[in-house]
Amino acid sequence: MNEFYQKDIISIKDFDKEQLETVFSYTDKILQLDPIQRREICKGKTLGYLFYEPSTRTRLSFDSAMASIGGNSLGISDVSSSSTQKGESLSDTVKIMSIYSDVLVLRHTLDGSSRFAAEVSEKPVINAGSGTEEHPTQAIQDLYTIKKEKGKIDGLKIGIVGDLKYGRTVYSLLYGLGNYDVDVRLISPESLRIRSDSTYEIKKRLDFSESTKIEEHIDDVDVLYVTRIQKERFPDEEEYLKVKGSYVVGLDLLNQMKDDCIILHPLPRIDEISTDVDKTKNAKYFEQAEYGKHTRAALLGLTLNEIAF
Ligand code: CP
Repeated sequence: MNEFYQKDIISIKDFDKEQLETVFSYTDKILQLDPIQRREICKGKTLGYLFYEPSTRTRLSFDSAMASIGGNSLGISDVSSSSTQKGESLSDTVKIMSIYSDVLVLRHTLDGSSRFAAEVSEKPVINAGSGTEEHPTQAIQDLYTIKKEKGKIDGLKIGIVGDLKYGRTVYSLLYGLGNYDVDVRLISPESLRIRSDSTYEIKKRLDFSESTKIEEHIDDVDVLYVTRIQKERFPDEEEYLKVKGSYVVGLDLLNQMKDDCIILHPLPRIDEISTDVDKTKNAKYFEQAEYGKHTRAALLGLTLNEIAF
């Protein structure tokens, strides 16, 4: 039996290096199967999605991943059209969704929401983004992208720039990178440094430096992971306006980077990477989105198919 069978995926902190490498190997294995073999992996299984926040990539890549391995999907992508509007609780909604599906994918505004859902769900729960806390499947996609595009993760210098306070992908990525020997440089406006309540947890896992100036690191990093300033999470719009547009990666900055530095972004992008950069060999954020489909197919296969390997 594979160790992920019927398990929840709530936090990347629950994955050690060996488990991450198992997911990466299984992703590679699925990609080598022909489409008919691939569709046997989750034949007859149903994914239920429940999104309390907007999403393009995460929801659609789960949907597309499930179809690619023979399953189907149903769910609520806009809770304003669900009985949540009549006052139905998260607990009851999760219980109902777990009757209709074999695995539940949840995105919610609150930290702790996925762990709570896992406690009430009869079926495994996958965290598709919980408040500002975590986005573990994004981190698996990000680590897989680094491995595919750089050939390794150990030994790399990784710059993470932008909104490090509210960006949940950053926290999951940092916890995931804690399994590897990496040199991490965090670059943000002073007001958007990583949250002090998470610093201890991150420091236990890896060493990092902090800076407000992207120029200090731009010629040295192997991976530049750019994030959006998360306007919707600021309690005060005035504070958002002070940091809006703090970093814009354009061709001028790109010319200062190592020739083989890759640029990643969990997306959506607003203005933090100029569209001029898209056509360069360094831009890997659209490939990263594609890897998200493949890694999610692997996670679904491992969760729902006892003999996935
Ligand atoms: N990266 C990510 O979570 O994108 P979506 O919000 O579009 O799902």
